[in-house]
Amino acid sequence: MSQSQKYIVTAALPYANGPIHIGHLLEYVQADIYSRFLRLQGKDVLYICASDMHGTPIEINATKAGKKPEDFVEHFWKDHQHDFASFGIQFDNYYKTHSVENKELSEYFFTELKKKGLIYLKDIQVMFCSTCQRTLPDRYIKGTCPKCSAVDQYGDICEKCNAVLKGVDLINPHCVICDSRPVPTSKPHYFFKLSSFSSQLSDWIQSSESGLQQEVANWLQEWINNGLEDWCISRDAPYFGFPIPDSKKETGETKYFYVWLDAPIGYISSTKNYCDKQGLDWKDYWYHGHVQHFIGKDIAYFHFLFWPAMLMGVGIPVPHLTVHGFITVNGQKMSKSRGTFFTAKQFLDLFAAYALRFYYAGYLDRSVVDVDLHFEHFKAVNNNVLMANLGNFCYRTLSFAAKNYGRVESIAVEKDMILELKMLVEEVEKYYAAQDFKNAVKTILKISDMGNVYFQTAEPWKRKEEAYDVVGLCVNIARTLAILVLPIIPTFSEKVLGALGETQLLWKDIRFDWKGRVIDPGHLVERIESVPVEKIFPYYLVLGHIDEVKDHLGAEHLFMLKVNFGSKIGIRQVLTALKKHKSRSEFEHQTLAFCLNLKPMKLRGELSEGMIVAADDGEHICFLRVEGGVVGEELVPEGYSVGSGMVVPDDFKKVPMVVEKGRVLFEGKVVGCSKGPVYVKGIKEGAGVF
Ligand code: MSP
Ligand code: ZN
Repeated sequence: MSQSQKYIVTAALPYANGPIHIGHLLEYVQADIYSRFLRLQGKDVLYICASDMHGTPIEINATKAGKKPEDFVEHFWKDHQHDFASFGIQFDNYYKTHSVENKELSEYFFTELKKKGLIYLKDIQVMFCSTCQRTLPDRYIKGTCPKCSAVDQYGDICEKCNAVLKGVDLINPHCVICDSRPVPTSKPHYFFKLSSFSSQLSDWIQSSESGLQQEVANWLQEWINNGLEDWCISRDAPYFGFPIPDSKKETGETKYFYVWLDAPIGYISSTKNYCDKQGLDWKDYWYHGHVQHFIGKDIAYFHFLFWPAMLMGVGIPVPHLTVHGFITVNGQKMSKSRGTFFTAKQFLDLFAAYALRFYYAGYLDRSVVDVDLHFEHFKAVNNNVLMANLGNFCYRTLSFAAKNYGRVESIAVEKDMILELKMLVEEVEKYYAAQDFKNAVKTILKISDMGNVYFQTAEPWKRKEEAYDVVGLCVNIARTLAILVLPIIPTFSEKVLGALGETQLLWKDIRFDWKGRVIDPGHLVERIESVPVEKIFPYYLVLGHIDEVKDHLGAEHLFMLKVNFGSKIGIRQVLTALKKHKSRSEFEHQTLAFCLNLKPMKLRGELSEGMIVAADDGEHICFLRVEGGVVGEELVPEGYSVGSGMVVPDDFKKVPMVVEKGRVLFEGKVVGCSKGPVYVKGIKEGAGVF
């Protein structure tokens, strides 16, 4: 590969529909590390991104915010760039999908594919809301699942039985926006013949150049084996997107490109926008260069089937792709109500950006596994690894050299050690090139370990004169480390290299005979003193639907309930003594809160695997419910995580939940789920929950 080999590196184009959060950042950091590495190697590389601005959710959220979509997306376009910059993410171009270049290129793709007979019109059933005067995307329709009869399910997937649905399949459908009943309507739409690419895609997967991750290749082959369906690429008005050329003439009404058609084209149009400004040709990159996409596993389908097929259709080489897993926080899915959701800005209020970059790098090895941001571990990595190992070596070496000598003029002759250092440098290079940043970090730490031991053993503070050349070699090791770690923590490197009067170094500038002036670098890494503590809720409360109520034949005062807790937990039998207070019909077909982390017990030969929780003020007893709550939903106080231990009935008195204004509070926080808070009715203030 020649020095002038051209590279495009991309990260997925984030929706201009909300703030950047620490989950997003994994990918933007990953792609940033890789592009900085290539730049360090002297390659001609462009790190390209853009805002993804089209689609129904953006259009609807803009309307809700009382803004035109154009203005709504513009706000996030700026906001995202600010956040990325504050994490050291260095794009060469951050453009937009709502742009002239993207419109032209989308039209180009469409007309090319159409000319080749790869696009056709077909009538399909869509759901139309006459109140909103719009065709509803599946996510904007709710109703009863035709497979399992679960109520209140979205039109794309049933949360209860996981069936893949279409909006038109729902029983008793209603519009999510206005609640009225949409009607099925037949409309012509444009389809892309994905099905005709099966064998070409298969060949690509199996070719050695594709370089697919093994697990991804497996998914892909399975999708293809299951049969590829053609892809609907048009949407009805009102839509925030590009109108499809001639659609009015051909269908009687203007159709728009589905957001996922023009979004990946945004990778090219952002490149084109940059190249036009710089007097370059985007085709040199896309036709003759190496294009590398980084994406999350949730958008694999679009990037491994639709996008390659579109590119094959117009004759542009298919890019290289790397898929990463998802970020969890303290072992849990990020969630606002759990206090495990951090925007980029919230994170920077607590910690430095380099700490997150270093932490993420330590996990990124080009496998598709999820990455857990465990705060206690994050603190340990920052303090005990970044600070105590790498930071400490560079700091003690440079500050010692600055204070005692001011320059490096002679360097200890340590042939074996330098040979070993050079081998380790080569290893780091290999790991970076393979996008195995985890092992790059490990190897870099081996070098700073060696440096620390060497410095410590020499005890230069005891014999300053004699140790001049030992410190000289240490300064060279620190200089090398700063170059090696630059793709991961560029601000750290700048400080170290700045103390040596060096800027804009390349990989080839790594050497162990550097001489020159040294000044004190100042603090390189801040210690993390405290991290957000997890607040633990001891009760595992879950909404369950009572499918059946039976009398316990051996115990008159007990009902036996058959309760459905959704696909994850399944059906359980729960025994209840509340039969004394409530009639059978008050249990039947109700969706209520149950506590599931009590030890299962047998009552007169029947197993009970849970307990109904209810508010009790001494006079009345009321079940806990959630408006619109669905089975399987976990109920937690805001900002809390569910503990992993078991509870005993006595705990409900010792660590109480109490009723306040019809809500249930735990340590002052409202208990609820994503659908809303738990409510109780007709219960006195301060009542307990048991
Ligand atoms: N707009 C589309 C991408 C179009 S690319 C032509 C989109 N946007 S997104 O904002 O939802 O996500 C952007 C990227 O961030 C995706 O690759 C997604 O996988 C990634 N992540 C979003 N949340 C994430 C985590 N919690 N963890 C890791 N990455 C995640 O999808
Ligand atoms: Zn409506």
